[in-house]
Amino acid sequence: MEIKVLKDYNELSSTVADIVETQIKEHLLSKLALPTGDTPLGMYDELVNKKLDWSHVITFNLDVYLMNINHPESYQSYMRKNLFDRTNIYPDHCHFPFRPFSGFEDKISGSMGIDLCILGIGSNGHIAFNEPGSSFLSRTRVVNLSEQTIKDNSRFFGTVDDVPTQAITMGLGTIMESKKIILIASGDHKLNILNVAMNGEVTEDVPASILQNHENVEVYYCD
Ligand code: GLP
Repeated sequence: MEIKVLKDYNELSSTVADIVETQIKEHLLSKLALPTGDTPLGMYDELVNKKLDWSHVITFNLDVYLMNINHPESYQSYMRKNLFDRTNIYPDHCHFPFRPFSGFEDKISGSMGIDLCILGIGSNGHIAFNEPGSSFLSRTRVVNLSEQTIKDNSRFFGTVDDVPTQAITMGLGTIMESKKIILIASGDHKLNILNVAMNGEVTEDVPASILQNHENVEVYYCD
C-alpha cells in the first residue's frame, strides 16, 4: 500500500483536516469515526479554525478507556476539549462506545454507517484499541490493554500505574465497514510498524494490516 509521506506535522494535520472538510461540505449529514491520542491534535485544531457547520454531523469515537468519563484524560474529556466544545456540533450527535455494545453498533448501522473513519496507529500496530491478536471479525467490546499500550499511554497519566487497564473499542469488523478510512502516523517511532502493517503480511498479530483488505484507504505519514 502507498504511504503518502508529508513534509511535516503541519502538512499532515492540514491535509487530513481538508479531507474531513470536503466530506462535511459535500455531505452535511456525514457520519465520522474519530480518533484520540497525540497524532490527531493538529487536525482537530485545523478543523476548528475552519469554522465548519457541524450541526448535522454525527460522530462515533473509536474507543474509550474504562474509567471515570470526567477524568481529564478520559477520551470523552479529550474530545470535548479538542473538538466538540469548539464547534457547533450537538452533544447528542457525539457517540462513544457504550453498553450494550449491540446498542452502539445499532446506532452506527441505524445512521447508515460511517462515511469517513480517521485512525491513528499504536506502536504495536493497534488501531482504536484493537490490540495484537484481535479477531479481524471483532465488533465493539471490552478489551484488556497490552503492556506496550499501557506503557506508551503512561505519558498522559504520569505513571504506568495510573493508566486504565481496560477499554471499550470499536471492533476491526466494525471499522472495516467504514466507507472511507484515513490512517495517520507521525514520528520515526511509527515508521517501522506502519511499513509492516501496510506492506507486510495481513495478520491478526498486526491489527492495522487488515486495512490492506479495504478498498478505500489512504495512509499519511510525517517524520
Ligand atoms: C491510543 C489510541 C489509539 C491511537 C493510538 C496512537 O492508544 N487508543 O486510537 O490511535 O493510541 O496514539 P498517538 O497518536 O498518541 O501515538
